[in-house]
Amino acid sequence: MARVSEARRTLSVDLEGLVLPTPVLGASGTFGSGMEMGELIDLRRVGGIITKSVTLKPVKGMPTPRMAETASGMLNAIGLQNPGIQGFMKKDLPFIARLGVPVIVSIAGKTVDEFIEVAQIVAGLPGVAAIEANISCPNVQSRNQVFACYPDQAGEVIGAVSRLSRLPVFAKLTPDVTDIVEVAEACVRAGAHGLSLINTLLGMAIDVATQRPRLGGATGGLSGPAIKPVAVRAVYQVARAFPEVPILGMGGITKAEDAAEFILAGAWAVAVGTANFYNPRATIEIAEGLGEILAGKGLRSPAELRGRMAHAAQVAEPAYRGG
Ligand SMILES: Cc1cc2nc3c(=O)[nH]c(=O)nc-3n(C[C@H](O)[C@H](O)[C@H](O)COP(=O)(O)O)c2cc1C
Repeated sequence: MARVSEARRTLSVDLEGLVLPTPVLGASGTFGSGMEMGELIDLRRVGGIITKSVTLKPVKGMPTPRMAETASGMLNAIGLQNPGIQGFMKKDLPFIARLGVPVIVSIAGKTVDEFIEVAQIVAGLPGVAAIEANISCPNVQSRNQVFACYPDQAGEVIGAVSRLSRLPVFAKLTPDVTDIVEVAEACVRAGAHGLSLINTLLGMAIDVATQRPRLGGATGGLSGPAIKPVAVRAVYQVARAFPEVPILGMGGITKAEDAAEFILAGAWAVAVGTANFYNPRATIEIAEGLGEILAGKGLRSPAELRGRMAHAAQVAEPAYRGG
């Protein structure tokens, strides 16, 4: 195995122009804008921050309880609570602008026009490296169908946001679809710079004693280790279809081996979500561990590991579903 001197090894990744110091970011909704996290960890050692999704107007969110623990995972129904773009600019932007770490601002909306309005504002803000469009939300103009579940609706939002912004736009996809490659393709064709996958899976838990749902919103998003195999599969399928498109992989990452697994599947970088709640140092520790994995394999950078899964068996087309 080729030995690589420490001096030549880097954790930095280049997402077609968006350069990150490490490939491990904080995932949207689990890192805020980094302000509270900055009191616990050295943010300059984080690969980047993806902010909580921001909408045009403030959103109060769902009734409590908003979180419930499940086997190897967590359900949440926060309901995109956020202060709206004006509140974000007042409270979070001054902090973000002087952070010195790549910040990807996540935007959300109930209509294509709302996405456009928020994106127009975000595109003009200082200190923003990229936009992540969280299209896993309902389109009120189309029977509350989730944008990311329909290739045409996903493409419409991503096309509109990409056209108006000088910033790279990442489309955040939901795994709750029959064919995630089809949705990814619509986003790529519409002009997405990259793809973030995956968002939470739609889930539900019921308290048998009270006979009530465990979440105030009844249903919610499942995250954490329970969803990792689904996320790795989604990254693998999309990366095979679009090897030239930067992919941010996420879903259940808690340790360096998980991050390496996503990169082997084809992710260019990864984001850590749920793990931040019990280990604020997760993004930093995972990046450090990834460096050790690369060193052990004699590789110079995460890019050298990307997509290098060895095929032990014939790859089934369409994807083999077990049984
Ligand atoms: C409490 C919570 C809030 C979240 N809020 C958002 C959000 O505002 N926008 C978004 O695109 N994803 C949001 N997510 C999804 C995460 O960014 C991530 O895609 C998902 O949780 C999978 O990663 P994980 O298993 O590491 O948590 C949220 C997740 C959690 C757990």
